[in-house]
Amino acid sequence: MRVDYDTISATYDGFRGVSAELAETILREAAPPPGGRILDIGCGTGNVEAALTGTANLRMVGVDLSFGMLAEAKSKVPGARWIQADSNALPLKREVFDCAIMLYMLHHLAAFRSVIEGVHEVLREGRLLILTASHEQIDGNFSSRFFPSYAEIDKTRFPKISEILEAMRKAGFSDLASREITVAKVTLDESYLTKVENKHVSTFHLMDDEEFARGLEKMRRYVREHKGDLPLDHRGTLISGTKAGSY
Ligand SMILES: C[S@@+](CC[C@H](N)C(=O)[O-])C[C@H]1O[C@@H](n2cnc3c(N)ncnc32)[C@H](O)[C@@H]1O
Repeated sequence: MRVDYDTISATYDGFRGVSAELAETILREAAPPPGGRILDIGCGTGNVEAALTGTANLRMVGVDLSFGMLAEAKSKVPGARWIQADSNALPLKREVFDCAIMLYMLHHLAAFRSVIEGVHEVLREGRLLILTASHEQIDGNFSSRFFPSYAEIDKTRFPKISEILEAMRKAGFSDLASREITVAKVTLDESYLTKVENKHVSTFHLMDDEEFARGLEKMRRYVREHKGDLPLDHRGTLISGTKAGSY
């Protein structure tokens, strides 16, 4: 992992979150049965679990590589089970989960295909949901107006949607689908500037310091001159697939 999430964990929740709408979409599309087991790989600070606490008596298990991110998750949702592990080697029994989610974590993986295979093994039957950004969405991201290498950094690490769908198909998932969703509403204003100053997305951690400083200055000027007149949707791609039960 080239991005240090143990350090980031101290500020992550100040600048990132899961909206009620997104949590609702995840619940609807992951479709766990009441009392079912949901696995969140790369769960971070447990924002999904916090949003889903008390819903349908779900039993929630979060896996993350970062001790710091998990410490935040545990303090927020003590009733869930938190496991520090690499998603490449899930220390989980086979065929026990009713659904699995992976939100904005695939781009951190060197071998995302084998992780998808591992998820297929630990699912009993049920859905896998992946939230990520397509290369078209990355190209359309307004950050590139200020930070010229933004899109290149992300396109190098985010797998293409077609590659993810193909990996899911090969792992044994069926009913494959992908669609664009609004992940958050963004207004380019002072509060958004604070997020960028705090490098709220990992892309900024991978960017050359000079480019980051120049881009931030350019963005500050823009916000001063335009005063938040650029409301934007932050778009993502939600991918789903089903592991069918054996009859
Ligand atoms: C951008 S954060 C997303 C966190 C959470 N899913 C969310 O949407 O708020 C990416 C997370 O993936 C975790 N991660 C990165 N590589 C991992 C790996 N190989 N195994 C498990 N977790 C990993 C990081 O520690 C981090 O918490």
